[in-house]
Amino acid sequence: MRAVDVIASKRDGHELTPEEIRWFVEAYTSGELPDYQAAAWLMAVYLKGMTRRETVDLTLAMAYSGDVLDLSQVVDYAVDKHSSGGVGDKTTLVVLPLVAAAGVTVAKMSGRGLGFSGGTLDKLESIAGYNVNLTTAQFYEQARRYGIVLCGQSANLAPADGKIYALRDVTATVSSLPLIASSIMSKKIAAGAKGIVLDVKTGAGAFMPTVEEARALARLMVDIGRDAGRDMVALISDMNQPLGCAVGNALEVREAIETLRGGGPHDLREHCLTVAAHMVRLARRIDDEEALPALKAELAGRLADGAALQKFRTLVMAQGGDVRMVDDPDRLPRARLIETVPVAADGYVAHVNALDVAYAALELGAGREKKGDPVDHAVGVIAYLKVGDAVTRGQAAFTIHANDEARLAAARRRLEHAIAFSTEPQSPLPLFYDTLYG
Ligand code: URA
Repeated sequence: MRAVDVIASKRDGHELTPEEIRWFVEAYTSGELPDYQAAAWLMAVYLKGMTRRETVDLTLAMAYSGDVLDLSQVVDYAVDKHSSGGVGDKTTLVVLPLVAAAGVTVAKMSGRGLGFSGGTLDKLESIAGYNVNLTTAQFYEQARRYGIVLCGQSANLAPADGKIYALRDVTATVSSLPLIASSIMSKKIAAGAKGIVLDVKTGAGAFMPTVEEARALARLMVDIGRDAGRDMVALISDMNQPLGCAVGNALEVREAIETLRGGGPHDLREHCLTVAAHMVRLARRIDDEEALPALKAELAGRLADGAALQKFRTLVMAQGGDVRMVDDPDRLPRARLIETVPVAADGYVAHVNALDVAYAALELGAGREKKGDPVDHAVGVIAYLKVGDAVTRGQAAFTIHANDEARLAAARRRLEHAIAFSTEPQSPLPLFYDTLYG
């Protein structure tokens, strides 16, 4: 096969055969094809799109470019979740122990934050000693022994995606539906769970700004997962304002622990209970969606009776973390400078700009501008207000946690304009817009 023929075929809008797609992915991953041919091919895919069949073939070729885990070796049924990334999204820290407390094995590989979007591994590393680097054998063993494992992606998981993603990043080919869907789903399929719940975010603080775009991405990923033999659910959730209040690594861990203790912000708790109920429904092979309210009630019971918090302790202990930080979150890294930004006038919250809050946290040092930058686990923002809240002048809109005066001032300037107020009452935003089943 010749690379130039495969590129020309896609450039001219033809459907590629499974063999052409597999060959191209294998040849690029092995180093046989140069970046310039892969870049030309990616741009052709970006401009001409892919059929569903081609997208499935691309996903499977990337998934099978490295190790494909098989969790059925160690557990009857494992579930996984994936969030498309957002601001204040600490859902995994709550949902995994919650689902494990319901007796369902959860084994997940997570990523680091990049750009405005936070990453679960950075959050977990706020806990002293927590080891995110497990071998495949340790991953299997911990899933079998404790029913919960949460670590970084192993180097040989979908290596084709790693290479292709890096090339997309520098060739303006990231925002393509088949390329995003195949990138995400190749890693999920390689990670080995039978049931997968996707949390596709939409809004100002998400990669998919409109509900329609989020729905199209979700539909495609559900279809790919189903074709690959996985049980799939995709939720379309709101990311116009931060999820919960905390944005920043240790602050988010603290909020997740509060939620596991039965408290926490209402939106975060509801969001986590919904995602967890879908995961448990898949694992128990319950077809009827009507079962969801009962499952949510059961899981709320696991928050109330301490079982979910206990599972989080087990996870932290199993991965070498300091459980005293879970028992006493005051031991988590804390910032030196804490300052409140007050509300300027009486009224109602019309808009909370999730991106402004994310960039304020980034400026404080909570995230990284580029891969490999260090993060400051202690810093971040607490955003107290939600769209629809009635407010009075002087009440706290934000608390800034900083370790540097200049960064604190920059974050304050940004946050002073992050909320729009109205004199008229405003409706709260929905948590979810849609649910897709596969
Ligand atoms: N996340 C991924 O893993 N891949 C994409 O292409 C976009 C988001």
